[in-house]
Amino acid sequence: MNIQEEIRTLKKERNALILAHYYVPGPVQEIADVVGDSFALSQKAADTDADVLVFAGVSFMGESAKILSPDKTVLLPDAEADCPMAHMATEENIRKLKKQYPDLAVVCYINSTARLKALSDVCVTSSNALKIVRALPNRNIYFIPDKNLGQYVAGQVPEKNIILNDGYCPIHHSLTPALLLEAKKAHPEAQVLMHPECPPKTLPMADYVGSTAGILAYARQSSHKEFLVATEEGVLWQLQRENPGKQFYSPTEDFCCPGMKLITLEKVRDALKNNTNPVEIEESLRLAALRPLKRMLQLAAQRKEQ
Ligand code: 13P
Ligand code: SF4
Repeated sequence: MNIQEEIRTLKKERNALILAHYYVPGPVQEIADVVGDSFALSQKAADTDADVLVFAGVSFMGESAKILSPDKTVLLPDAEADCPMAHMATEENIRKLKKQYPDLAVVCYINSTARLKALSDVCVTSSNALKIVRALPNRNIYFIPDKNLGQYVAGQVPEKNIILNDGYCPIHHSLTPALLLEAKKAHPEAQVLMHPECPPKTLPMADYVGSTAGILAYARQSSHKEFLVATEEGVLWQLQRENPGKQFYSPTEDFCCPGMKLITLEKVRDALKNNTNPVEIEESLRLAALRPLKRMLQLAAQRKEQ
């Protein structure tokens, strides 16, 4: 039996579902039951009949799945697969700003620890941040942890006072206008598709800005044939698979998330076989972190119906 067959057999035996983010290696995306952006994966984690969820992604994703589905076993193929940005905000600053602005809403990008979520009013992902911030009644918003996504939202929602926090994704933040210009010289016909975690000074160079799912949707419907993809390189695997007649290039070799690349087929199999790294969250923390996640799911659904 090859490793893919082993995984399929174990999945059946355990009534398990493999959820994978677009940034994990291609073979893991291929074996997954659901491949998606952070928002789609959190929706699926909140609504499935599976007994076991294997989260092929970084630890905040597995943690969110456990917060939303506490009765399920949520397994991490590698407990070391972490997102550094998820830790880049402090309770002290949150408390300080809450005192300063009585109407403050703490808006927490889903790339964050359960502890930070628990201190927040609502979670967002890169695919729903604009909708959700617009829907909030509060004028003063503390956007944690990502200053780049926060600044992108501030530019699109000028009616709000968005206070930025000094966090960032080390991968996306490494992009510079010079790197992008160089890549555009090499591929002059290419459109630039960019994740909003990229630095604000690079955003005006993009033809499209959006989440990983948004980038995939744009490329699918576009009549263009070449694209520079300014996000983690795992997305290129899915882009190429869906669009065999189009060319996709990464503007820099540095667009590689070390946490996501720790996820391998062998670790997915071993998680299912040995029940490795089950996510456990203390109940009062889980309940506090559930509130902003649920509010995100509700607001995102409401806005869709309008
Ligand atoms: P998405 O919200 O597009 O899935 O992005 C998640 C992420 O980690 C970006 O670095
Ligand atoms: Fe975190 Fe950046 Fe990796 Fe996304 S790409 S998981 S934000 S380190």
